[in-house]
Amino acid sequence: MYISKDLPKITTHVLQEMKNRGEKIAMLTGYDYSSARLLDEAGIDVILVGDSASNVMAGHATTLPITLDQMIYHASSVERAVERALVVVDMPFGAYQGNSKEALNSAIRIMKESGVNAIKMEGGEEIVESIDRILSAGIPVLGHLGLTPQSINKFGTYVVRATEKQEAEKLKRDAKILERAGCFGMVLEKIPASLAAEVTESVKIPTIGIGAGNEVDGQVLVLHDMLGINQDFSPRFLRRYANLHETMINAFNAYIDDVKSVDFPSEKEQY
Ligand code: KIV
Repeated sequence: MYISKDLPKITTHVLQEMKNRGEKIAMLTGYDYSSARLLDEAGIDVILVGDSASNVMAGHATTLPITLDQMIYHASSVERAVERALVVVDMPFGAYQGNSKEALNSAIRIMKESGVNAIKMEGGEEIVESIDRILSAGIPVLGHLGLTPQSINKFGTYVVRATEKQEAEKLKRDAKILERAGCFGMVLEKIPASLAAEVTESVKIPTIGIGAGNEVDGQVLVLHDMLGINQDFSPRFLRRYANLHETMINAFNAYIDDVKSVDFPSEKEQY
């Protein structure tokens, strides 16, 4: 009843309409063609080509090493698969922090070379000049506040952010700054649910939470985490919708057994 699967194509305007009428936005990460096809077929509203690809696709400990070229490769793979979902791509660490011209050049490369619909950037006041410049070029921007993994070396830890008044006040100010700048929405990552609810109430644009409670306009999870592929990451906010770790290990074991016992290929599976 709440799923707009019949809508032709999700745009940033559709997300705004969803917020206005109280329909929640469902967003998941996606990094490759085959997964993106499944996500789109299932009716996901937004696919985020997250820089979490650095972790779950490339095995890095943080999101910092992934490059602009690598993000464009993932983004174009996803874009080729998608008919309906809005595709948003993370600007990777180092592609926009230098200055607003560099930020605009990075955003233009993502849009030109992958054909996606929008980009996401981590930060508030510090990056507003870059956001302004990118928006002036007609590129939609999704903000990202709270736990911003590209700043892990400043934070030193992945614990809940903005539990202290000073950080919470800055986050509220940043949310208004992103809204005023013209962002079409913002991700709120790992902050107290009450703070996320207050921010959601205070801005007109959609908020998408991850570890931010349910009084936000939508939710996002990392695909590999919600599918249970990755079993060693178990934060409180994560709900696993499958145990693909077990399913895949069982399939691999069965294949190994069949090859070793010469059960595979059978008569019917050869020419
Ligand atoms: O890169 C990512 O997957 C993200 C989400 C966790 C919001 O930024």
